[in-house]
Amino acid sequence: MDNTQFSDLVNNIQPGIFGALNEKKEELLREGRKVYNLSVGTPDFQPAPHVMKAMEDACKDPENYKYSLADLPELIEAVQYRYQKRFGVELEADEIMSVYGSQEAMAHIGLVFCNPGDTILVPNPGYPMFEMSGIMAHANVEYYTIEEKNGYLPDLDGIPEDVLERTKYMIVSYPLNPVCVCAPDEFYERLIAFAGKHHIVILHDNAYSDIIFTRKQGRSFLSFEGAKEVGVEFYSLSKSYNLTGARISFVVGNREIIRKFRLLRSQIDYGIFYPVQYAAIAAMTGPDDFIEEQREKYAARNRALCGGLRRIGWNVPDSQGTMFVWAKIPEGYESSADFCMKLMEKTGVIVTPGSAFGSGGEGYVRMALVVDEETIREVIGVLDESGIFRKEQN
Ligand SMILES: Cc1ncc(COP(=O)(O)O)c(C=O)c1O
Repeated sequence: MDNTQFSDLVNNIQPGIFGALNEKKEELLREGRKVYNLSVGTPDFQPAPHVMKAMEDACKDPENYKYSLADLPELIEAVQYRYQKRFGVELEADEIMSVYGSQEAMAHIGLVFCNPGDTILVPNPGYPMFEMSGIMAHANVEYYTIEEKNGYLPDLDGIPEDVLERTKYMIVSYPLNPVCVCAPDEFYERLIAFAGKHHIVILHDNAYSDIIFTRKQGRSFLSFEGAKEVGVEFYSLSKSYNLTGARISFVVGNREIIRKFRLLRSQIDYGIFYPVQYAAIAAMTGPDDFIEEQREKYAARNRALCGGLRRIGWNVPDSQGTMFVWAKIPEGYESSADFCMKLMEKTGVIVTPGSAFGSGGEGYVRMALVVDEETIREVIGVLDESGIFRKEQN
């Protein structure tokens, strides 16, 4: 394929640090070393039995292997039921559509708003798919800075006027992966007023509303007055219900945006596999006590990891939400990637360098709360023995 000219878009996608981390992990495993993988965002919890049963039953019906083409009415009703029960938000049927995961929704939504050269605004650091939503649409990606000293909230008044004039949409997400903070209610009220004033659409990514440690219940962007007039929310079933592989999430909110997005996606897909739709219905309408139990388990892991790390000399703040912990790397390392490689080499503990989330993440690492408390204690022991954080104690 020597003569094949690939697109700039695909040529600019970098395999990044994850490939290098994976190679290193394989090398350690070949050497018979024990590894602790805290880099992946896949829950180790299981889907609820009634959800798996709904999927299993639906899989036995040959009719369910046809193109579904549209969302089942019961699926839409299930989202309405869930949003009312969980967030106190009323949704009309035309304010809801399913997608193959929020990731897929973000991959395509830029095409709804942007012509090549239009501008979008995303956080730095931020979840990589945020910027990709613009790159896929050949848009110009601008970054709003979020810093620890400001609680990782954007300085809305500090965004230059000329950027605001050009911006089609802004992606906002709390609890925010990777920095693990929540936003206060007043922030959303200000955001909605700001979006209305500058005619900027807000896309709110709500992947972690059920994994929050500062209060019992996370909120929906749509529970704030005026939100539906300015934007939509990505509501993912992946983490709340441990359905990451099923690939089903929803875009909910402004009906005009939903109508245009549905039109675009009618050219891309033929609807969600029926058994997945039935599993999602069971998840959203069935018993949900396990969500609170799961949240408490994540909270206990958060306390075990952050408390344990502080005890051995790494001053890591407690996570406020998401299934991750965000920590400043100790002094003496060239970069967060350098620290991650050395940490893995020395201890077998794999964490994600903050630089994977943008330049604003340099100097930090992200650790996933995807192992049980006992394993977390083992990890703390291994890190302590390695002496890697001892100098901070002195
Ligand atoms: C912030 C954020 N948004 C979206 C997703 C992807 O969600 P989905 O599985 O619905 O595509 C993730 C997954 O890790 C995430 O962390």
